[in-house]
Amino acid sequence: MKFPNEVQTTLVHAGRDKRFTQGAVNSVIQRASSIVFDSVEDKKKATEKRTQYELFYGRRGTLTHFALQEAMCELEGGAGCYLYPCGAAAITNTILAFVKTGDHILLTEGAYEPTQEFCNEILTDLGVKTDYFPILVGENIAEYIKPNTKVVFLEAPSSVTMEVHDIPAIVKAVRKINPEIVIMLDNSWSGGVFFPALAHDIDISIQAGTKYLVGHSDAMIGTAVANERCWPQLRERSYLMGQMCDADTAYITARGLRTLAVRLKQHQESSLKVAKWLTKHPLVERVNHPALASCKGHQFFKRDFLGHSGLFSFILKERLSEAQLAEFLDEFKYFSMAFSWGGFESLILANQPEDIARIRPISGVDFDGTLIRIHIGLEDVDHLIADLEAGLNRINTNKNKITALQSLV
Ligand SMILES: Cc1ncc(COP(=O)(O)O)c(C=O)c1O
Repeated sequence: MKFPNEVQTTLVHAGRDKRFTQGAVNSVIQRASSIVFDSVEDKKKATEKRTQYELFYGRRGTLTHFALQEAMCELEGGAGCYLYPCGAAAITNTILAFVKTGDHILLTEGAYEPTQEFCNEILTDLGVKTDYFPILVGENIAEYIKPNTKVVFLEAPSSVTMEVHDIPAIVKAVRKINPEIVIMLDNSWSGGVFFPALAHDIDISIQAGTKYLVGHSDAMIGTAVANERCWPQLRERSYLMGQMCDADTAYITARGLRTLAVRLKQHQESSLKVAKWLTKHPLVERVNHPALASCKGHQFFKRDFLGHSGLFSFILKERLSEAQLAEFLDEFKYFSMAFSWGGFESLILANQPEDIARIRPISGVDFDGTLIRIHIGLEDVDHLIADLEAGLNRINTNKNKITALQSLV
C-alpha cells in the first residue's frame, strides 16, 4: 500500500510558523495562565481575536498550543483543532458540544468501551438516548436515524475486533436524510494519516493523540479537528467545559508529529509481516488485520484507507484457561501487557469472547477462542515474530504436558 508522501512532508513542516518558533526549529514552550496586556487597546484586540491564535487567556491556548493546533489542521484538513487532556475527554466533550436533553445519538457498536459507557451512563442521565448500529451497517444506517438524531459516531477500525465500516455509504445515507447531523469519527488508529476523515465528509475527526501522535507512551492528549460548519460550536462549548491541555504536552505532541510518518511506515510494514505470519500458525483461527481479506470490512479498508498502523488482533482456535493465559502472557521478552497502544513498543493483551460480547450490544461475537490484541512496535520484526512463536509454543507445550499427565491417571 502506497504511503501518503505528501503527508510525510506536511508533518515535518506544519505549525512551524516563525511566530510560534521564534527562530528555533520547534515551537517555544509557553506556559501561561494569565496573559499580560500592555494597554487597554491591546486587551481589546486580544479579546476580539481570541479565537484566531491571539494570546488571550491560558485556557484559550498559548503559542505552543497554537503551533500544534495549526499543524493538526494542516494534517487533517480542518478549520480548527481543539486540544483536550486525553482521548476520552476529546470524545466525550465533542459529543457533549452537539447534544441536549431529548436528543438522540447513533453510536457504532464497535466503539471503544469507555465511549460506549459514557453514552450509556452519562448521556442517559442527561436525557440523551443512544442507539447502537452494527459496524457493517453501510447505507442501512438510514433505518436507525430518527427526527431527533443529532450525532452519528463512527470508529474505524473497531476497537479490538478491527472491522472496518463502509464510511462513504454511511456518510451519504446520513447526509441524504438530514445534513445537519454531526458525523464524528474516532480516527486514532490511522493517526489522521491513513484516513483523511474530513475529505470523506466527516465533520469531526477525533484522535486519542496519546497513541500515535505522541508515539512514546509518555503523555496523554486528545485532539478534535473540525470542519468550518462545526468548528465554532465545538471550540466555544469545549472552552466552556474547561477543556485544554498543558503547554508541555502540546509541545511533546507537536514533536511527535515530526516522526509520525516514519514511525507509521515501520508500524505498517512490521504489523503486516506479523499478521501474515500469524495466518499460517496452527493455533490461530483468524487474523483481524484490516489489510488482510480475513478482516471484516477489508474491502472498505482497501478502497478508503491509505495504509494501516500497528494495532490488530487475532483469535486462537481454543479458549485459553487462566493458567494458560498466564503461561502465554507472563513470559514475553519484548511484548508488554498494557492498555494504551501507539507507542514505539510492542504490546499484547487477551480477551475472552464474553468480554467482547459485552461490548457488541447488537451482534455479539462469532468466535469461541481467546482473542489476542497486539500492537506491533518499532523493534526488529523478526525478534517480535520469534517472541510470538515462543509464546504460542508455550501454549502447545503446556497443553501437551497436561494431556500426558491426564493419560497417566
Ligand atoms: C480507540 C481509542 N479511542 C480513545 C481512547 C482514549 O484515549 P485516552 O487514553 O488518551 O483517553 C483509546 C484508548 O485506549 C482508544 O483506544
